[in-house]
Amino acid sequence: MKKVIWATPLYKFLRHCDDSPLEKTILDCGAGGDDPLLRLFLESGYNTTGIEISDQPLNKARKFCEEHGLKLNIFKGDMKKLPFKDEAFSFVYSYNTLPLMSKKEVKMALRQIQQVVKPDGLCFINFVSEEDEGPADSYYEDNEPDQYFTDFLILYKEKRIILIGKERKQAYIDYIVQKKQGSPK
Ligand SMILES: C[S@@+](CC[C@H](N)C(=O)[O-])C[C@H]1O[C@@H](n2cnc3c(N)ncnc32)[C@H](O)[C@@H]1O
Repeated sequence: MKKVIWATPLYKFLRHCDDSPLEKTILDCGAGGDDPLLRLFLESGYNTTGIEISDQPLNKARKFCEEHGLKLNIFKGDMKKLPFKDEAFSFVYSYNTLPLMSKKEVKMALRQIQQVVKPDGLCFINFVSEEDEGPADSYYEDNEPDQYFTDFLILYKEKRIILIGKERKQAYIDYIVQKKQGSPK
């Protein structure tokens, strides 16, 4: 197993989480795949939970856990209908998963995330920028996703443009946000 995960923007999120006084509980929404990103947080002492809607990536993640003796706790489920109590997690992230949803679904999913994260808890969420030249179900202007975070403080925002050769580029907008005290669940 490689030490470093491929999704390096999550290291920035880990630094923010490590600086938080909240208990180390974290949820990954869209957690499947053959090298599950949650391992970064497990290896850093977090109690991890993941939710994944599709069997194939779910089984790949489970196989990875078996092969490496890791307990990531990844379950089948839909992040638009999270099966957890309100304020169950200090930290929640969703990496490269909202781009697979329409804007209506994104709104539903973010509403769920707001419900399960604790006050002062942190979230990492990314969106695909309208500058991206690949396939996605939703594209955003630079400040457009701000509308989803009225009950959060935006701590960090980064636009990443990845040039893959001359003809196609990828462009993401990453957010790290903190749920305000007293915001609606
Ligand atoms: C592009 S992959 C990214 C996987 C992982 N986050 C990563 O970056 O390696 C998106 C994943 O989200 C899952 N997914 C899509 N919609 C979902 C939903 N509504 N609830 C949970 N998982 C979902 C897909 O099945 C897929 O495994």
